[in-house]
Amino acid sequence: MQATAKDTTELRLGSLEELEKLRGELRAAEDPDQTRIIVCHGTGCVANGSPGVTQALKDALAAAGEQVEVMPGIKTTGCHGFCSRGPLVIIKPKNIFYQQVKPADAEEIVQQTIVKGETVERLLYKLPQSGEAVETTEDIPFYAGQERVVLKNIGQIDPTKIDDAIRAGAYAGAAKALTTMEPQQVIDEVIKSGLRGRGGAGFPTGVKWNLAAKHQGGQKYVLCNADEGDPGAFMDRSVMEGDPHAVVEGMIIGGYAIGADTGYVYVRAEYPLAIKHLEKALADARALGLLGENILGSGFNFDIRINRGAGAFVCGEETALMRSVEGKVGEPVPRPPYPSDKGLFGKPSVLNNVETWANVSRILDRGADWFASLGTEKSKGTKVFALVGKVNNVGLVEVPMGIKLKDIVMTIGGGVPGSDRFKAVQTGGPSGGCLPWEDAELPVDFDSLIAAGSMMGSGGMIVMDDRDCMVDVAKYFLGFLEEESCGKCFPCRLGVPRLRETLNRFSKGEGTIEDIDDLYSMAEAIKAGSLCALGGTAPNAVLSTLRYFRDEYEAHILEHRCPAGVCKDLITYSIDPEACTGCHACFRACPQNAVSGEKKKPHTIDESLCIRCGMCLESCKFGAVQVQ
Ligand SMILES: Cc1cc2nc3c(=O)[nH]c(=O)nc-3n(C[C@H](O)[C@H](O)[C@H](O)COP(=O)(O)O)c2cc1C
Ligand code: SF4
Ligand code: SF4
Ligand code: FES
Repeated sequence: MQATAKDTTELRLGSLEELEKLRGELRAAEDPDQTRIIVCHGTGCVANGSPGVTQALKDALAAAGEQVEVMPGIKTTGCHGFCSRGPLVIIKPKNIFYQQVKPADAEEIVQQTIVKGETVERLLYKLPQSGEAVETTEDIPFYAGQERVVLKNIGQIDPTKIDDAIRAGAYAGAAKALTTMEPQQVIDEVIKSGLRGRGGAGFPTGVKWNLAAKHQGGQKYVLCNADEGDPGAFMDRSVMEGDPHAVVEGMIIGGYAIGADTGYVYVRAEYPLAIKHLEKALADARALGLLGENILGSGFNFDIRINRGAGAFVCGEETALMRSVEGKVGEPVPRPPYPSDKGLFGKPSVLNNVETWANVSRILDRGADWFASLGTEKSKGTKVFALVGKVNNVGLVEVPMGIKLKDIVMTIGGGVPGSDRFKAVQTGGPSGGCLPWEDAELPVDFDSLIAAGSMMGSGGMIVMDDRDCMVDVAKYFLGFLEEESCGKCFPCRLGVPRLRETLNRFSKGEGTIEDIDDLYSMAEAIKAGSLCALGGTAPNAVLSTLRYFRDEYEAHILEHRCPAGVCKDLITYSIDPEACTGCHACFRACPQNAVSGEKKKPHTIDESLCIRCGMCLESCKFGAVQVQ
């Protein structure tokens, strides 16, 4: 091995020792105390203009010239999780956290922080409750409450540079597995860690691997489920964009453990940056000898292909996914046989979620005991959630399993704007359910969520407040599943629309109390008769909202009233003459000319013209528009 740490272009690693030597050289070449500028180039920050910020910082550094003692490097990274505050700029080594940075701020950052060592107060994050500015990432509750295992490198490394990933520890777990462990030892280690699949059902990963490994010899496959169809979810996208090598490494380990020489990543085509970074990671890993023939001199051959999905939710289901990879129509088929016996192209196959694969890399690197020390007895490790909705800190968070629901939403999430509690938290995506404030102390783990009528799912977490109608929420998820059902089996094809139509009648004030009994019996039939979990879990949205918010359903049915003020047929808009200043904003906002009134005099709404679009409510800064 001749190449230096700074030039890995001609390098091919032939052993564990060579990998560790390279890592040592890469680490020695970087001074951890040196000033560095990190700019987030995750999808959210890029959409908000971070490439312009990076360019402006480069220009400002060049203009500062000799004023800067040691020129800091600029590193672009994947998503830091706090997308609602982007574009983000972090100054290392202190981790000074600048938010919502614009290109015009670059010169001040360079002059104040890089040249003089002072912070730019106006770019710091302010605590939502007190307004107090905090300086570093560690001081921000959004980050302080997290435990980053899967996300540990994201925001630290440049995901397009394999050197950076190796410096941060990439491929240490794979190297250990391939060169020092037998395949069965690897499986036993994953079983011992207690890792359960992060894609939804929480099946023990090592147990699944064992089933496929039992088939001696012959062609086998490992697959990565990166379909991520849940509305609002972006956990897997962020991992692939920000640390693609963690997924590649996990799949190498899985392939070695079950005896597969080929892996497939099934990723939705709507994730172009994730695909780009994965393709680069695969090419770089191949060039270094971490993929391909005789990896690290272990005698193990393995490579990975990328397969683009066309965005059908049902293609995330394991049998549908494998059919889709085979070029067939992506619809579920009955199990057994399970994929571990007869999967892709009829061969024993293991499918795991993106986050599961990333966890495997960490487990083989740091050991099963370390992993099992995180989380609860039956839900080990951490979970990444996409925290969205009515919460101050929208973003991606990784927390230890077993953390209280309240701690995620009210502490890490910074609470609900304008309220000291949430009305409901929806977990588990379309297959999950809504949990009320009464469950604020609920430990967030696989089994507690199921017992409470929801599920972990792949990690969507939508926070709702008093302005969210639970009938409407259930209707939304049913509508989504109705659209996405493949239609193969009739309980799902016909039953889900019937559930949605019943809720539709409720939101028009046309339901009866007997309809609620019908909902329960339809839900049972759909759950029992559906071939796959799309239909099998579809009623959860109705059942969980009925369980915790039955009074809201009854208000729609018995009082023809929508307490949240959402269901258009059950609400009227009016203007409180005492509060109205006559500012005319609602007059201008109303698309129907339903608002009338002279400037500086109380306005009124003509109910016969009003289409209940809510534009007047949104435009009024004086709280004068009322919804009944
Ligand atoms: C309709 C439907 C959609 C699914 N979508 C996904 C998905 O987008 N990503 C995922 O990892 N698992 C998804 N799953 C779960 C997979 O079928 C499978 O259980 C999972 O990928 C296994 O990986 P794990 O053991 O690592 O969780 C879906 C299941 C169903 C029924
Ligand atoms: S349950 Fe629904 S999505 Fe699943 S196979 Fe049947 S019709 Fe298709
Ligand atoms: S926006 Fe509000 S305050 Fe202004 S005219 Fe309309 S109701 Fe009155
Ligand atoms: S994309 Fe920058 S924080 Fe998420």
